[in-house]
Amino acid sequence: MSLEIRAQRPDESDAVLQVVSEAFGDEGPAVVGVWRDVVARGLDRAQLVAVGADGELVGHVGLSHGWLDTRPALVDVLVLSPLSVAPAHQGRGVGKALLTAAVAEADRLGAPVVVLEGDPGYYRRHGWSPAADLGIEAPTRRVPGPAFQAVPLAAYQSWMTGRVVYRDVWWEHDSTGLRDPLLADIEAGLGAPWPTDDPPQTS
Ligand SMILES: CC(C)(COP(=O)(O)OP(=O)(O)OC[C@H]1O[C@@H](n2cnc3c(N)ncnc32)[C@H](O)[C@@H]1OP(=O)(O)O)[C@@H](O)C(=O)NCCC(=O)NCCS
Repeated sequence: MSLEIRAQRPDESDAVLQVVSEAFGDEGPAVVGVWRDVVARGLDRAQLVAVGADGELVGHVGLSHGWLDTRPALVDVLVLSPLSVAPAHQGRGVGKALLTAAVAEADRLGAPVVVLEGDPGYYRRHGWSPAADLGIEAPTRRVPGPAFQAVPLAAYQSWMTGRVVYRDVWWEHDSTGLRDPLLADIEAGLGAPWPTDDPPQTS
């Protein structure tokens, strides 16, 4: 399939939200809602689209601002979300092409690291690793450990460890991590609890 990955144009906002909505199915309205607000507040740092041979917009990826709260400084980082491929075009490498381009764009923008929440089964095959391997923690303990992933970029330095802090909009939409019962189901599948610094349970 012929595919072009390029920056989103201003007149493509509606088409992008349509692709995001279709890709995420039942979760579509929630994902569209948070992304619309991220953009409205000027927190997006890059938006890339995948365009098929006939000019149809078949995929999208967004990068937005976040912080990494390290001991010496608050560091600007990029959060990759959402990643969407229209259902009819999934499984043909569009997601991989968008991911590759987004990481390259994050590097070009000078971010030291790009992070995301997602299925490690998918992202691991595209060069992502647990953020914990870099000493980078998710914004909430409700992100199953292996699901919070990162790619260090050229500007990354080894002192950049700490917790990622999402901008308010993600919290206003309650759009980070998972909640029970889904969280408990996924934890069970992963053999959780994985190591945390939670205090021991006493009962
Ligand atoms: C996830 C998504 C972006 C992948 O896009 P895509 O264009 O289908 O991905 P690619 O074609 O690059 O890769 C497809 C491959 O990944 C595999 N794959 C897809 N989801 C996977 C998962 N959760 N775990 C493991 N492998 C997965 C497919 O089986 C396929 O494997 P193959 O190459 O051996 O056939 C797309 O399915 C999508 O938009 N899903 C709905 C929205 C979503 O979940 N976004 C990510 C949120 S974290």
